[in-house]
Amino acid sequence: MQSSEIRKKFLEFFEARGHTVIAASSLVPEGDNTTLFTGSGMQPLLKYLLGEPHPVGRRLVNSQKSFRTEDIEEVGDNRHDTFFEMLGNWSLGEYFKEEQLSWIFEFLTSVVGLDPQRMYVTVFAGDKENNIPRDDESVAIWQRLFKEKGMDAKAVEFVTEERGAELGMQGGRIFYYQAKNWWSRAGQPAKMPAREPGGPDSEMFYEFSNIEHDLKFGRYCHPNCDCGRFVEIGNSVFMEYKKNEDGTFSKLSQRNVDFGGGLERIVAASNDNPNIFTIDVFAPLVARIRAGGGTSNPRSEQIVADHVRASVFLIGDGVAPSNKDRGYILRRLIRRAVTHGHYLIGLPMGFLSTLIDTVIMSYEDAYPDLKRDREMIREVFEKEQVAFERTYTNGIKEFEKVLAKGEMISGV
Ligand code: SER
Repeated sequence: MQSSEIRKKFLEFFEARGHTVIAASSLVPEGDNTTLFTGSGMQPLLKYLLGEPHPVGRRLVNSQKSFRTEDIEEVGDNRHDTFFEMLGNWSLGEYFKEEQLSWIFEFLTSVVGLDPQRMYVTVFAGDKENNIPRDDESVAIWQRLFKEKGMDAKAVEFVTEERGAELGMQGGRIFYYQAKNWWSRAGQPAKMPAREPGGPDSEMFYEFSNIEHDLKFGRYCHPNCDCGRFVEIGNSVFMEYKKNEDGTFSKLSQRNVDFGGGLERIVAASNDNPNIFTIDVFAPLVARIRAGGGTSNPRSEQIVADHVRASVFLIGDGVAPSNKDRGYILRRLIRRAVTHGHYLIGLPMGFLSTLIDTVIMSYEDAYPDLKRDREMIREVFEKEQVAFERTYTNGIKEFEKVLAKGEMISGV
């Protein structure tokens, strides 16, 4: 399926279940200096998750532009990107686990058409230290949902990823983990600042069964293994806790649902192809990069595709290259794209900015502002690209002169 189709169907599915579509926020968080970028759909909704009434109601849905740098070293493999679209639905103190898990399973299996036999889910194993119970309620719901598809869903308790790698799948369909199934913006309970909301979550994985487990990641494969056989496609957070000033946890005034699903990964799963860079929004970009360079280097091609796409969206939201904060991250993306593009794939100097139109073409219906701001985006990108290409070329020339004189050898 195409990205635009899945995005549209997701919004329609939740609209039909009483949700209001809210506009995506900027990648530059508004009135929130806790993070440099909007990294999830819940971030702009924080105060509503904490109890303030939202102007349009208690059931919301959208597709949120998101940017995360945590996985930047992994970008270039087949499933990580810096910029991505997060499909999100929220219950602000209304429905809870029963409706959420039933709906999202229905969406993924009946609307997107994913085979339930290829889906595995994880749930929270509990946290004794913070007095947060194991999520047996979600397990019972999942068992019923799989049963309705004619499947027995055995629950297996791993708690840690190490245990998962030691034991393997055990014929399970539902797996308990602890740290992996707790979600807050800050991560684990110990890392959360006072007043931060969080909660247990239930993640869904799609199994790309043609990917063989890689022993480098442990003896056996399991849903949270990093070999790429299981890819997380969605996460329902049951956000009902907050951290207190004294470090303990108590219930929020309302029980929330915060669902986030990676659009690119869901599209890849719908095509049964584990590589997100083959989906419709990436394919033309990767094809142009491949045709433009002289050397085949899939990892670098994917890095260039990711970084150029992310730069277009960041510049579109007003970020300009600089030496600090957001501007510095953008600068790094453009420079890294130039380095991989020119030096590892052989793209000609000046080529990268010609990819901007290719990115915008894939997104002009969903994000018309990109089309409107095309010239501004090109100008900002090109200025940084040209300056860096010049610096790099001069650096290489100096290096070659030194090499020619043999100074490198004697200087070591
Ligand atoms: N906030 C959760 C996440 O980012 C679910 O949307 O995964």
